[in-house]
Amino acid sequence: MKILLLGKNGQVGWELQRSLAVLGEVVALDRHGEDGLCGDLSDLAGLARTVQSVQPQVIVNAAAYTAVDKAESESELARTLNALAPGVLAQEAARLNAWLIHYSTDYVFDGSGSTPWKESDPTGPLSVYGRTKLEGEQALADSGCRHLIFRTSWVYGVRGGNFAKTMLRLAAEREQLNVIDDQIGAPTGADLLADVTAQAIRHVLPPMRRNDLAPSGIYHVAAAGETSWHGYARFVLAQAQAAGRALKAGPEQVQAIPSAAYPTPAKRPHNSRLDTSRLRNTFGLSLPCWQDGVKRMLAETL
Ligand SMILES: NC(=O)c1ccc[n+]([C@@H]2O[C@H](COP(=O)([O-])OP(=O)(O)OC[C@H]3O[C@@H](n4cnc5c(N)ncnc54)[C@H](OP(=O)(O)O)[C@@H]3O)[C@@H](O)[C@H]2O)c1
Repeated sequence: MKILLLGKNGQVGWELQRSLAVLGEVVALDRHGEDGLCGDLSDLAGLARTVQSVQPQVIVNAAAYTAVDKAESESELARTLNALAPGVLAQEAARLNAWLIHYSTDYVFDGSGSTPWKESDPTGPLSVYGRTKLEGEQALADSGCRHLIFRTSWVYGVRGGNFAKTMLRLAAEREQLNVIDDQIGAPTGADLLADVTAQAIRHVLPPMRRNDLAPSGIYHVAAAGETSWHGYARFVLAQAQAAGRALKAGPEQVQAIPSAAYPTPAKRPHNSRLDTSRLRNTFGLSLPCWQDGVKRMLAETL
């Protein structure tokens, strides 16, 4: 099997380099490309040429414009990367009869209510980022290519910065932290997303062809359970203390604040809960609770 991976050095892309390696030949690109291949999502003609040249059976697109607040003032670039580029990949995948695996976000929803979102629920993005990601989803559906879109939330990876690392740094510097407690979701490891992706590819491609079981479309993927950013921060600091890390602020010194007290350029959904039953039932997968993944990430970080 030949797989074209875009965005190989992002949080998810990095873990995909590991999880896809056992499936076959992986041509992995970052925005700089290599060997004459283009991995830059802003170069739409270059992307199309790359797919035609590699002729993959599967394209995995882990690249995206992910700077949620900056997108409010860079909407054209965000739209090119999150909507137009996936559209080009989808058209090329359709021509090759290849599968396109793509990632989206709970930010396509308006965050109302407290029920976990199902794939079929109405969308209503609150931000440029959410709108452009939704447009990307629609481009895949319109192309008619075989595709899996994994909508996920609150992604962290061991590589690069993440919320837990920021909390650890701030708790070493300050005696009190203020963290939002009215946005609810599930921190989801990039490693989990990469493993789910590899399992799903095995389901949809020969020799384990089971197209009847895994139709094209959107699947929600998030770790099990739920928390707020406040609960997440307290969990991280409690783990750090238990591991003997010296902190000025422990979990008890994390104050809960409402989103309104921490204004950001982009509005974020209050309810980021995702109902993952479609993914679990279709692929026969079980998703671990968010604390398990965060503990593993902390064991590598602390
Ligand atoms: N992070 C989250 O909390 C979250 C939540 C829900 C859904 N998602 C979705 O999950 C997917 C993976 O996200 P992630 O967390 O792995 O994001 P990430 O760590 O920010 O990675 C995104 C990657 O895209 C690359 N990129 C940016 N502009 C590019 C361009 N013009 N051409 C090629 N590559 C470009 C970045 O490269 P550089 O490093 O060179 O900029 C980076 O490697 C995305 O589709 C994202 O929308 C993420």
